[in-house]
Amino acid sequence: MEFIKVNEAYAKHIALIELNRPKELNALNLQLMGELRDTLKALDDNDEVRVIILTGNKKAFAAGADIKQMANKTAIDMLKIDQFSTWDQIRKTKKPLIAAVSGFALGGGCELAMTCDMIIASESAKFGQPEIKIGVMPGAGGTQRLTKAIGKAKAMELVLTGRFISSEEAMSYGLVNKVVPVEMYMHEATSLAKEIANMSPIAAQLAKESVNRSFETHLDEGLTFERKNFYLTFSSEDQTEGMQAFVEKRKPEYKGK
Ligand code: CAA
Repeated sequence: MEFIKVNEAYAKHIALIELNRPKELNALNLQLMGELRDTLKALDDNDEVRVIILTGNKKAFAAGADIKQMANKTAIDMLKIDQFSTWDQIRKTKKPLIAAVSGFALGGGCELAMTCDMIIASESAKFGQPEIKIGVMPGAGGTQRLTKAIGKAKAMELVLTGRFISSEEAMSYGLVNKVVPVEMYMHEATSLAKEIANMSPIAAQLAKESVNRSFETHLDEGLTFERKNFYLTFSSEDQTEGMQAFVEKRKPEYKGK
């Protein structure tokens, strides 16, 4: 594994996965997501593991999908790469998955945290769906999961302005389970994991599946719709401009084309 670190025996019945591309703020490139998918599958198959914690580092949980990897892609390239089949497998993880978030959880990073079952946030965490600022829109479930988690008004605001919210705001909107000082967020996530690891792992898996069933009843349709629109943004000049401007560290000039 190059971009993630795995400790299968972090604590009794608890595994820890750390996203490990610190220089890129844990930007989620295709390889990292593939490694994460394979690791989650292996941990699901490991009877010793009952709960999984997913984290980044203090500065970044993950600053989104890797913009540099996507910048020159066409809609058809994106369709063929089909990165979201990996996300679909990740969301089917059977064991309880806790996101321990500090620093940036943006775009795909926010979507990855929301794919987990619970979020423990440090006081420095920043959540957001800033894709609109680079000429695209959320593509890994953001328009669906954020709306279900925090309601239409706030989700619309975040998706259309791309602005970030603090962990306190995220807490008040119901996006996260708990906010604690930075030095405590791993401890807090571990305590929560230990509490769940003490339960029947079978009951925990079935209960998780059942909660998700109520949450995801119409999600497939929403995700399919979102995905097509995400790919469509790659046929716009604004996507090229937005991503290129990011790479060149300048302000984008959008033309609505
Ligand atoms: N993709 C690729 N590289 C990224 C990245 C990303 N999403 N986010 C940060 N990086 C890289 C930067 O390019 C930079 O690399 P260099 O040192 O080589 O220039 C490095 O990480 C550090 O980043 P910054 O210098 O920008 O750090 P900062 O503290 O000044 O700013 C930030 C932090 C506000 C998070 C800023 O990096 C940023 O805006 N990142 C992009 C956030 C974003 O737009 N995410 C959405 C991506 S699209 C998506 O996720 C689609 C989807 O739904 C699937």
